Amino acid sequence: MQLIMAQDYDDLCHRAADHFVTTVGEAIARAGRASVALSGGSTPRALYRLLAQAPYRERVDWSKLRVFWGDERPVRPDHEDSNYRMAREALLAHVPIPEDQVFRMEAEDPLPEVAAQRYETIVGKEVAGSGIPRFDLIHLGMGDDGHTASLFPHSPALEESGRLVVPNPVAKLGAIRTTFTYPLLNAARNVLFLVSGPGKAEVLRAVLEGPRDVHTYPSQGIRPEPGSLIWLVDRAAAARLEQTART
Ligand code: 6PG
Repeated sequence: MQLIMAQDYDDLCHRAADHFVTTVGEAIARAGRASVALSGGSTPRALYRLLAQAPYRERVDWSKLRVFWGDERPVRPDHEDSNYRMAREALLAHVPIPEDQVFRMEAEDPLPEVAAQRYETIVGKEVAGSGIPRFDLIHLGMGDDGHTASLFPHSPALEESGRLVVPNPVAKLGAIRTTFTYPLLNAARNVLFLVSGPGKAEVLRAVLEGPRDVHTYPSQGIRPEPGSLIWLVDRAAAARLEQTART
């Protein structure tokens, strides 16, 4: 695990954009294509806007990229809470990625089990891997309760060890979200957590420096092997860290 400290949110987004260009470029050089799973929430929005403009836009071969989502809310794609809508508006509508290489997670489906299985099938078809599909890059955020993707504290999906995409009932939200599970997340070649702001300082300390308790802090369950894990955090989010070495 590597912790990288950005000065502030703007620096964090630029560093994440450089990492995106490098990681995607390496995958395309190695395999002729790259597969990325985007995260939702608000943190990545400015990053996705950055990737949609010079110089980053021109440094990605969008024709060879396949884009997925690591989780999605149970809302239509035009809803203000949709992770798909956020990425479409900030990035995908502004870059030349073929429509048939953008794979929306249909978490609003009235049959979430069927939709999750359908998405898992698509991932298995589009993302290479011997056994479990291996994403070249998965972006993750972390909530102030320590959740990541839609793996929330004490939610059923934390126990899933076979399936790769599942509906996950989240009691505190009174909603069923759809999410990648640990087996799929931890198979990735590169996982990048993006954490920004003072509101995440205490939970970041608990996750990185507190006792291991994945049910309480699901982000602790992200341990890609043999893939790489980078925590890219800004100074405000890192304010409570005492022991973790940073670069
Ligand atoms: C979601 C995200 C979720 C998010 C965290 C952090 O659907 O909400 O996938 O895991 O990354 O909640 O969200 P912020 O970036 O808005 O703090």
